[in-house]
Amino acid sequence: MQKLTMHTSRIYDILMEDGLLASAANRIAEVLPPGTGRKCCVVCDKTVYMLYGKSNKPLPKSLMDAGYEVGYYAFPPGEESKTLDTVADLCGFMSESHFTREDFIIALGGGVCGDIAGFAASVYMRGIPYVQIPTTLLAMADSSIGGKTGVNTEAGKNMIGTIWQPHLVLIDPKVLETLPEDELLNGLAEIIKAGFLADGTIFDTISEGLPEAAFKAIQVKQAIVEEDERESGKRRLLNFGHTIGHAMEKCSGYCIPHGCAVMNGMYLTALAAEDLGWSSEPIAGLIKNVIDAFAYPICKDYSAEALAEAAAGDKKRVSDNIIIVYPDRPGCCAMRELPIRELEDFIGRGLAKA
Ligand SMILES: NC(=O)c1ccc[n+]([C@@H]2O[C@H](COP(=O)([O-])OP(=O)(O)OC[C@H]3O[C@@H](n4cnc5c(N)ncnc54)[C@H](O)[C@@H]3O)[C@@H](O)[C@H]2O)c1
Repeated sequence: MQKLTMHTSRIYDILMEDGLLASAANRIAEVLPPGTGRKCCVVCDKTVYMLYGKSNKPLPKSLMDAGYEVGYYAFPPGEESKTLDTVADLCGFMSESHFTREDFIIALGGGVCGDIAGFAASVYMRGIPYVQIPTTLLAMADSSIGGKTGVNTEAGKNMIGTIWQPHLVLIDPKVLETLPEDELLNGLAEIIKAGFLADGTIFDTISEGLPEAAFKAIQVKQAIVEEDERESGKRRLLNFGHTIGHAMEKCSGYCIPHGCAVMNGMYLTALAAEDLGWSSEPIAGLIKNVIDAFAYPICKDYSAEALAEAAAGDKKRVSDNIIIVYPDRPGCCAMRELPIRELEDFIGRGLAKA
């Protein structure tokens, strides 16, 4: 069993072991606050429900054997479900099913599920406990830890949300056996991001196994989030590649997979930062090597103007500036505020060199 303890506004464990779903109930019982009820709402998308939510599967069996009363809320898979409407519907379901503030939520799924379920947990009856059980590589390596929850709006991704830390994160890498290849690539992009941010040894670990590499990426995120839980400083580094990446996703109507967009975002940012003389050492070539090694497509479908316009509404915006996270040297990123009016030129420099 691999274990990390997260020291944030809530202290909680992140446990990783093959087959962990079968003993989930006991692990959960150990960490829930005294007085927490025996009733939980398992939130998942319909794909994950079919794979891991049915009553003969290890997690439900473990919960039922331990005497928990279990309700299920399953929503259509995909980013389109990450809306306030879904959260309202989930909270409505919980009210009708008489969930009280003594009960808790289990987020069983990928990042979409974790963000929806975590947000609902943070607002239902002014906040109830929740447990993250990530089933995608992205959710294991990134979204299930750190407590960011939220939903998308017309204006962009994750525009409404909270920071609400889970009580426990349980990672069972066995569930990756059913995850499609392109979803693995999505998660791998966040692991690679952690490598460029703080720990170059991650690249060697990838060949040893994705769960091992994910665990190292979690440690990178842990150190950053523990220092800056509410993203007033260092946590912004985790957005490396995401300003242009999110803009690309938005321009594509969310057809470009998140991981592919982030890889492109990191690459274009590195090229532009090098061109402007911001980076102490060239990194774009290293990022391109990784892009080629894992066959991520390079996307040049959108103009600098379109990407800059899409990025202008980004949460990384501060007044008339936007915070750009760029690679300074291997294993180290830095941040600069860029006037919004210069963003198009910045992205254009990246596109011209890609
Ligand atoms: N909160 C955070 O800190 C944070 C960080 C990064 C990303 N995110 C968010 O995470 C979301 C992306 O997460 P994601 O990539 O996990 O997407 P996702 O949750 O939509 O899952 C991707 C697909 O994989 C399927 N799936 C999940 N587990 C499976 C399994 N074990 N086997 C087979 N299929 C499975 C799902 O049904 C879905 O179709 C985005 O909304 C992003 O904004 C949040």
